[in-house]
Amino acid sequence: MATRITVYEVGPRDGLQNEARQVPTPGKLELLAALAGAGLSRIEATSFVSPRWIPQLADAGEVVAALPGGAGLAYAVLVPNDKGLARLLDALARRGAGGPRVDAAVFLSASESHNRKNVNKGVAETLAAFEAVVGPARERGLRVRGYVSTAFGCPYEGKVDPARVVAVAGALLALGCEQVSLGDTIGVGTPNQVRRLLELLLGKARPEQIALHMHDTRGTALANVLAGLEGGITTFDSSIGGLGGCPYAPGASGNLATEDLVYMLHGMGYETGVDWGRLVAAGERAEALVGRTLPSKALRAELASRALGAPTC
Ligand code: HMG
Ligand code: MG
Repeated sequence: MATRITVYEVGPRDGLQNEARQVPTPGKLELLAALAGAGLSRIEATSFVSPRWIPQLADAGEVVAALPGGAGLAYAVLVPNDKGLARLLDALARRGAGGPRVDAAVFLSASESHNRKNVNKGVAETLAAFEAVVGPARERGLRVRGYVSTAFGCPYEGKVDPARVVAVAGALLALGCEQVSLGDTIGVGTPNQVRRLLELLLGKARPEQIALHMHDTRGTALANVLAGLEGGITTFDSSIGGLGGCPYAPGASGNLATEDLVYMLHGMGYETGVDWGRLVAAGERAEALVGRTLPSKALRAELASRALGAPTC
């Protein structure tokens, strides 16, 4: 078993994109600083998607310009198309030299219907449009991650053929994505599905080229992570407090919470570089920002045992 695991934090993007109440830019930057301060080394900060589609992240340029730094820290942002990449490059140019590293991520779905709802195009058309994103981003020194959404099931089509997921993931790797994250957008996946997909994919890709992005909608996210760990996967996406979901997948609440993931990984002896106490503080910060209690079980339990003065297990 690998001992070092990358916890890939997506809360500031995947979490906040789902929040109706507008979070002010300084609040987003405070959350990012709290996450970086907790030792998370990969953080998805925001999205250069259409502000008409996702008004919450319309301040992506301001966020990128003011990202807090940290040793070994790399941020990523979603870019859906060449216009998104141009906005990212413009924000980086305006910020000037010396800020933290910012990479790009492209996304599409394994299922046609979800892809159309999410980006208003078919899968083949979306992949073709990524040619104007992935190569040009890499030429400017950015790494590019690719997401395959609805990899375990689609809110509109139901079951998704694993062969489709493998084909889309393979196309993203062939375009030059350094890693492909398999998204359980609506949280329907189970460990056997993870094993099956990994069996198919790991014949064509190295384990470090694949990440798992599980949602905990039906309580299966950590079981799926365990199946991924056993398959040699070393990067898992999660969201602080369990914030978020996909606005174009009804009922897709419940990203795997970072606190739940880190609690399990640390308990199993894996290293993550994350400081538990500071992570809990970041979770509390996220709750204050969105003005409600977040679903992370490990966060809830930690805060309850602190309130009782009980020792941490
Ligand atoms: P569209 O309306 O089809 O775009 O949107 P278009 O290319 O036809 O252009 C229409 C207008 O949008 C034009 O402006 C463009 O300039 C503008 P106008 O001429 O009308 O004034 N436009 C843009 N503006 C700013 N930034 C851009 C941009 N592109 C075009 N990048 C588009 C197509 C892809 C932009 C839209 O559908 C969109 O923004 N979709 C994003 C939806 C989204 O963010 N979903 C959530 C992220 S994915 C996710 O959460 C899943 C994941 O977590 C993994 C998992 O859980 O499975 C990753
Ligand atoms: Mg997601």
